[in-house]
Amino acid sequence: MKHLVIFGAPGSGKGTQSKKLEEKYGIRVVSTGDLLRAEVAAGSEIGKTCADIIAQGKFPDNAIIFKLIELFLDKNSDAKGILYDGFPRTVEQAEYLLTLLTQRREMIQTVINIGVDEDVLIKRISGRFACAECGEIYNKYFKTPSTEGVCDVCGAENFKVRSDDNEETVKTRMMMYEEATAPVLDFFRDRDLNIILVDGMQPVDVVFHQIENIL
Ligand code: AP5
Ligand code: MG
Repeated sequence: MKHLVIFGAPGSGKGTQSKKLEEKYGIRVVSTGDLLRAEVAAGSEIGKTCADIIAQGKFPDNAIIFKLIELFLDKNSDAKGILYDGFPRTVEQAEYLLTLLTQRREMIQTVINIGVDEDVLIKRISGRFACAECGEIYNKYFKTPSTEGVCDVCGAENFKVRSDDNEETVKTRMMMYEEATAPVLDFFRDRDLNIILVDGMQPVDVVFHQIENIL
């Protein structure tokens, strides 16, 4: 089984590109952010514990994240490839993932690192909204539905905005990325993993072609 990591700051386009890779190549995406938001929406114990933490842009305990990852891997043991989005997010999480994969005699083949300038990240996050039914991601500055108020993919007319997509929380998320997440790249480098930098300032399809060319 292939294991790929898609890496980048909040708003760099990880979710957008993951969805395209999943659709075209049939690999399965595990987004810890999506899994946590699903727990919050379902009102589960995990969701209740995490809702405020996520809304503030901070990280829930690793025990919760590891449980979600293990459940996902167990359920997807037949997958030909897994793409990790938003995980690992700390060096501790990266150590955990490598240990877990080593136990399963597997490894990370490629880390796709999406680079985007900070001022653009803020605009992307503040403009983001998604279809409430199918989750398709839009942006009021960069990608609006072709018919206003109607999802291009499923035709639904309800949209949602994430609890952490506001100016105050964005600052915390960027700080958490710089302090806790960016060091994961050095950790991967020290272990000689294949890290590929992609220019995430380009339009979505151009970014996608860059990724396709390296896989
Ligand atoms: P998570 O859901 O992982 O969020 P994130 O890392 O902050 O990243 P985003 O989802 O905001 O951005 P993205 O890179 O996916 O960009 P997108 O494609 O949507 O985590 C959220 C929270 O959950 C964390 O803060 C934490 O609390 C918790 N959490 C999650 N994982 C955790 C973990 N492992 N450990 C602990 N806590 C965890 O694109 C953004 C916008 O830009 C969209 O509107 C899109 O349409 C637009 N866009 C995308 N690409 C382009 C482009 N090329 N050109 C123009 N616009 C574009
Ligand atoms: Mg995302």
